[in-house]
Amino acid sequence: MTTSIEISESVRHYYGQVLQSSNDLKTSACCSIDAMPNYLKALLAGLHPEVLERFYGCGSPLPPALEGKTVLDLGCGSGRDCYLLSKLVGPSGRVIGVDMTPEQLEIAVRHREWHAERFGYANVDFLHGHIENLTTVGIADNSIDVVVSNCVINLSPEKPKVLAEIFRVLKPGGELYFSDVFSDRRIPAQLRQDPVLLGECLGGALYWEDFRRILQDLGCPDVRTVKQNPISLDDPEVIAKIGMVKFNSVTVRAFKMPLEDRCEDFGQVAVYLGSIDQHPHSFDLDDHHHFETGRPLRVCGNTADMLASSRFGDHFQVLGDKSRHFGLFDCAPGPQGASAGADGACC
Ligand SMILES: C[S@@+](CC[C@H](N)C(=O)[O-])C[C@H]1O[C@@H](n2cnc3c(N)ncnc32)[C@H](O)[C@@H]1O
Repeated sequence: MTTSIEISESVRHYYGQVLQSSNDLKTSACCSIDAMPNYLKALLAGLHPEVLERFYGCGSPLPPALEGKTVLDLGCGSGRDCYLLSKLVGPSGRVIGVDMTPEQLEIAVRHREWHAERFGYANVDFLHGHIENLTTVGIADNSIDVVVSNCVINLSPEKPKVLAEIFRVLKPGGELYFSDVFSDRRIPAQLRQDPVLLGECLGGALYWEDFRRILQDLGCPDVRTVKQNPISLDDPEVIAKIGMVKFNSVTVRAFKMPLEDRCEDFGQVAVYLGSIDQHPHSFDLDDHHHFETGRPLRVCGNTADMLASSRFGDHFQVLGDKSRHFGLFDCAPGPQGASAGADGACC
């Protein structure tokens, strides 16, 4: 198995034919336990059981402040996150799910009416296609507020193409917010093509530094880690093959806007207004920017822009501009950050 088409075929076969429910997975990589906030757990309880049964995600890439927004879910599978997003964007928003595996998409589509009746509105569309080419499913340039994805990009044999498509379809100021499996090294070529390792989201796992370089090449030099959990390998066959690699399920946030490759200090300060639904007391931009409501926090130029020039702009007061420079900003992530030690992107 060497070509991109063969890899896609192998992944489609795994999700369409081999797996029938999350119980069939050999590792926890695609279903890692990710503490979901209570308000999302409550929404989960209202989803159709068959949609939940076929959930193979590795996190909860469901950011706040989505009301009225257009959200695109890449590799939506049976539609769990799309239906959660349907509630989060509300009747004035729109959710689009794209997936290449007919068996998965069929489940998502089959329960569309069921959810629309329960929610009182229909705002979800499912499209059959490849995330490497979103033009073929009609997603226009600069048309999407937020792109989410749950344990999918690792499965693509053409990751730079997927990420380029994401930055094409995002509106200026839009956000990529996704959970995926990351590895602490490049996976050896022969293991990248192993159908089980690939299907289990291990063989194609993204090596953080290569991911960071792809984003940098796409004009996004500052990508943030929101949270991460280690993935444990339990299956002896899987351990024998790939036990030397450490895997993490990581939730990542990146914005489509001009940013610098390092954090620069312009003496700016940001104050969270406490106005995001379900987040009255604080807001976490990433794993090292915790904003308490009303409490001013010094921020670098990139963080100031992420807050002021995205949909979070209504929820923050950003004081100061970039007219005076004070040198580099010490904005290093904590030791747990996936990007710890990474050169270039600050945070
Ligand atoms: C691990 S599952 C995750 C599904 C869903 N996000 C969830 O959380 O349940 C991966 C999904 O991505 C889809 N997929 C993988 N590669 C794809 C590609 N290149 N284009 C479109 N869909 C893809 C598969 O068909 C499968 O449904």
